Amino acid sequence: MSDTYYKEVGDYYDDDARDFEARYWDNPVLQRIRQSFREEVKRHKAQTILEVGFGPGFDLTHFARILPDSQVYGVDVSMEMVRLAQSKIDAENLKNAKVAQGSVEDIDDRFPGVRYDMIYVFFGALNTVDDLPLAAKHLQNLLAPGGKMVLTFVNKWFIAGMGIELLKLRVRSAFSRLKPVWGGYSPTKYLASKCYSPSEIKQAFTPLQCTYQSGYSIVYPAWYYHGIHRRMPQRLLRVLWQMDRGIAQSMPGTWGEYMLYRFEASTASNISETVG
Ligand SMILES: C[S@@+](CC[C@H](N)C(=O)[O-])C[C@H]1O[C@@H](n2cnc3c(N)ncnc32)[C@H](O)[C@@H]1O
Repeated sequence: MSDTYYKEVGDYYDDDARDFEARYWDNPVLQRIRQSFREEVKRHKAQTILEVGFGPGFDLTHFARILPDSQVYGVDVSMEMVRLAQSKIDAENLKNAKVAQGSVEDIDDRFPGVRYDMIYVFFGALNTVDDLPLAAKHLQNLLAPGGKMVLTFVNKWFIAGMGIELLKLRVRSAFSRLKPVWGGYSPTKYLASKCYSPSEIKQAFTPLQCTYQSGYSIVYPAWYYHGIHRRMPQRLLRVLWQMDRGIAQSMPGTWGEYMLYRFEASTASNISETVG
C-alpha cells in the first residue's frame, strides 16, 4: 500500500514542482506564515537538523545558510523537488546540506545512524503519510536525546473556512476536511491526504509531549482566499493577523486553517508546560 501511495504523492508533487516557487513568491500570506514557522525552529539550538518534505528547499537552504556549523538533512518523496533543492544547494555550495528522495519511513536508510536535535515539517508533508502513528514512531526513533520536533499540519477543524464555504453554498467543500480522505487544496487535481484534529495528532505522537501549539488563519483569511485578500484593505489584514497571533495558542486557536505543534521528549521540567 505505502509504495503505491507514495508513488502517487511523488507524482503529484513532481507535477506541482513546475510552478511551485512562482506561486509561492506571489503569495504574501504563505510568506508571512513561513516566517512564523521558522521563528519557532530558530528558538531551539540544534546541531543536526532534519526536514521532511522540503519542496524546492526554501527552508532547508535557509537553515543551512544561517547555521553553517549545523548539518541539515532532508527527505522528500518527489524527485523533482529533490532536483530543485539540490540545485540550490549546489548553486550556493552549501556543504552542510544533504537531500535524498524518500518518505518518513526511509530516513534511516537514506542517512544511516544520524539522530536529530530538530526535526521540522512545514506545509503539509505529514498530511500525506500512509499511517500517521507509524510515521510518528519513525520520527521519534530518529530524535537525539533532548531533541525537538516542530511539525505543521493542515487542520481538520477550520471553522472560518467551513463558514465561508457554506455562505458560498459549497456544502461538500465546507465539510471535506472531516472526511476520512481529503482530496487536497486543488479543486482540479486530487491528492489523497488526511486532515487531523489536535487531539489525533497528540495521540499519534504519544509519549512525546506537546509543549507548544499555535493556530494560523483563525480569523486572518487563509492563503487561498485570494479574492478576500485582494478586496480587504491592508490595514485590516494586518489587524486580523495580529488578532490571529493573539488567539493562536488559546482554544479558538485550534480552529485555524493550519496548526503548528512542538513536541519533545518528556523531562521533569517540561511536563508542567504540556499543552492539553
Ligand atoms: C506543500 S509542499 C511543501 C514544501 C515545503 N515544505 C515548503 O514549505 O515549501 C509538500 C512537500 O512535501 C513532500 N511530501 C509529501 N508527502 C511526503 C512524505 N510522506 N514524505 C516526504 N515528503 C513528502 C512533497 O513532495 C512536497 O515537496
